[in-house]
Amino acid sequence: MRNLTEHNLTDAVLARLSECDDPRLKQVMTSLIKHLHGFVREIEPTPQEWMAGIQFLTTTGQMCDDVRQEFILLSDTLGVSMLMDAINNRKPAGATESSVLGPFYVEGAPEHHTGVDLAPGEGPGVMVSGKVSDLQGKPLAGAVLDIWQTAPNGLYHVQDSSADKYHLCGKVHTEADGSYRFRTLKPVSYSVPSDGPVGQLLDRLGRHPFRPAHIHFIVCATGFKPVVTQVYTEGDEYLESDAVFGVKNSLVVAYQPDGEEWQVNYDFVLEPAA
Ligand code: BEZ
Ligand code: FE
Repeated sequence: MRNLTEHNLTDAVLARLSECDDPRLKQVMTSLIKHLHGFVREIEPTPQEWMAGIQFLTTTGQMCDDVRQEFILLSDTLGVSMLMDAINNRKPAGATESSVLGPFYVEGAPEHHTGVDLAPGEGPGVMVSGKVSDLQGKPLAGAVLDIWQTAPNGLYHVQDSSADKYHLCGKVHTEADGSYRFRTLKPVSYSVPSDGPVGQLLDRLGRHPFRPAHIHFIVCATGFKPVVTQVYTEGDEYLESDAVFGVKNSLVVAYQPDGEEWQVNYDFVLEPAA
């Protein structure tokens, strides 16, 4: 086709997909082309604006390495990660709700029996306890809670070269009655990495880069669907404006004072594997 105009160009590009023999790829590219062309029609970017957009994506890619994934951060801060999470984790009533994994999960944390202290000699600490059960309330023995969180300096162990590997991380197994318990440090609210293009974008949009304090969990049990989630601290100043939109009411808990320290109780409910 020649002499294409702004009125028939989209159809001409879509027609080029006719030879694609992968139906899912064809569906994805059809939708992408329609939305991308629709975006350009709506915005009518100037050439300078289009180049600025391309430069932003280029810088975002250049910021990525083995431990820094700026594109995931972009997806997180635009709410796309939580939309993906919502679409892929539709839960039955009563099951623990999911939240965003985030970029700081590291596989291979040490395994512990219930009662472990993940921060010996450090404080202020919190004793976290509860149980893991199925949708009918039956306790799940031998379930595994894979736990990670920030230190009081607002950094995960992978971000902090002075921290021990797996600091404030661990896998805790439930007892015969489904109960679990571990001591950790009271989590703090912290900034997502803001020294790159995504941080600059947030700044230009008048948005802050903070997340409310939370502890991350992946809870697994044989025969059940694992849940990737976070337990947030009641009263945190960023609960309403989480930079990555991850907060759900059912995941917010109150920390109770316990002498010099804190305690918190949270029960997890898993749905059966499909
Ligand atoms: C996190 O909770 O660790 C996190 C999630 C999304 C972006 C950055 C950090
Ligand atoms: Fe986090």
